[in-house]
Amino acid sequence: MSDYERVASIDELQPGGRLSVFVDDEPVLLIQKADGCYAAIADVCTHDGQPLTNGPISGNEITCERHGARFDLTTGQPLCMPATEPVQIYDIKVEDGSIFLRLATGETASCAHPGPLNTVMAGAPTLPTGIPPGDDAAVSATADEVEDTDRSIDEKMLDALRNVIDPELMINIVDLGLVYSINHDGHKAYVDMTLTSPACPAGPQIIQQSKMALERLRDVDEAEIKLVMTPPWSPERMTDEARDHLGIF
Ligand code: FES
Repeated sequence: MSDYERVASIDELQPGGRLSVFVDDEPVLLIQKADGCYAAIADVCTHDGQPLTNGPISGNEITCERHGARFDLTTGQPLCMPATEPVQIYDIKVEDGSIFLRLATGETASCAHPGPLNTVMAGAPTLPTGIPPGDDAAVSATADEVEDTDRSIDEKMLDALRNVIDPELMINIVDLGLVYSINHDGHKAYVDMTLTSPACPAGPQIIQQSKMALERLRDVDEAEIKLVMTPPWSPERMTDEARDHLGIF
C-alpha cells in the first residue's frame, strides 16, 4: 500500500472546485463538492479513457463528457452505461491545511471537510482500465532513439497519449500508429503525429486532446503537436490489439 502523498493545500480548493493532481504519477481529480466534502478519483473514464477533468458534477456524481457515463464520487462505481467498471478512488487525509491522497484501501466511503482533524477513507478495488496498453511497435523507432536517461518521461508521454481515442475507429492513437515521434526538451514536449487520412474530420479534436493529455503530466509544461502526412498512415502501422479490435487479420 502506498503512503499518503501531499497533493494540495486546502486553500487551493473552494466548495464546488476541482484540481488536477498526481498520485504515484497517475492523474487524479480532486474535488470539493458543493457541501464541502472532498472526493478524489482517477482522472480517466473506465469506458474509453476520456479524462473526467471537466465532467459535470451533480451532488455525488460526475459525468464523463464523452459518452455520458456517470460515476459515484465516493465509491467510484459506474451508475450507468456505457461504463461498467469503477474508477479508482483515493483515501483522503486533511492535516495542517494540506490534502493528502493515497490509493483507496476499502470499498466504503465517507466524507472529509477541510479541517485539522478530518480523515476520509473511500475505496474501490479496481484500477481504471482505460484503453489497454498495446504493442509499442508502432512507435518503437522513436522509443529506440530516446536516450536511456530520458526513457521514463517518454514512456509516460506514450501512456498519456494512449488515453486519446480516435473517435472514428474507437482505438487509441498510439495503438493506431498515428504517433510518429516523441521528444522533449526540458519540460516541453514535441510530438509528430499523423491522421488516418488528410481529410479526417476528427483531426483537430485528436490534436487538442493529445496536447491536453501531455500537458496534464507532471513532467510536461507545454506540448507542441505537429501534424505530418509523410509517410502516410497505413493499417500496417496498427498494433495487433488494434487489428483485432477492428477485425483485421
Ligand atoms: S463514457 Fe467516458 S469515454 Fe465513454
